[in-house]
Amino acid sequence: SILAVIFDLDGVLVHTDQYHYQAWKRMADEEGIVFDESAGDRLRGISRMESLEVILEKSSRTYTSEEKEALAAKKNGYYRELLEQLTPADAAPGSHEIIAACKLQGTKVAIGSSSRNTPVILERLGLTHLFEAVADGNEIDNSKPDPEVFLLAAKKLAIDPECCIVVEDAEAGLVAAKRAGMKSAAIGTVINSPAAADYRLHRLEELTAVIWG
Ligand code: BG6
Ligand code: MG
Repeated sequence: SILAVIFDLDGVLVHTDQYHYQAWKRMADEEGIVFDESAGDRLRGISRMESLEVILEKSSRTYTSEEKEALAAKKNGYYRELLEQLTPADAAPGSHEIIAACKLQGTKVAIGSSSRNTPVILERLGLTHLFEAVADGNEIDNSKPDPEVFLLAAKKLAIDPECCIVVEDAEAGLVAAKRAGMKSAAIGTVINSPAAADYRLHRLEELTAVIWG
């Protein structure tokens, strides 16, 4: 049975996936590097520096590690500017309802995100206090598709991985859930991908049927 839900953050509980895209796009345009939505989808779930490496594949020149650090910092600055617009009204439709339903049923809720900006985003959305555990990019060595962040969330909850379900908008996240021995539900553009997922959701509300039948 399912005792805990581990939510990915960006692209699941909030539309910050669009902000990531816009911030990388601004950086790529300044560098004269081709970057589009399909490349954008590849950045879902992976870390900041891994994302940069994907973007630089399209560049005609090579970058030193100092230059890479500077580009990643520049992108994060643009991204943080966009995050300043976030308010509690920006929590994805259905997120408050599904979290409330979990509370009512005694199902634990956690965050499992690759983002180092997770604490800031949760604060801006006013969601921080609702989660029994938060595992994020500041605490892990390997980001998705490695299962580390989800296993850390389960450990913080003291719930066995096989009793957890992960909600993800990234292929890397679905792979990570499987490697963690957890169930998974795909939401967003990834519902059309061939990546293994136990469930595919068009809306967060559909999770209630998955968990409680
Ligand atoms: C993930 C996003 O949640 O966080 C990725 O899906 C992003 O696109 C990653 O690269 C790292 O984010 P941040 O906020 O630490 O730069
Ligand atoms: Mg995501």
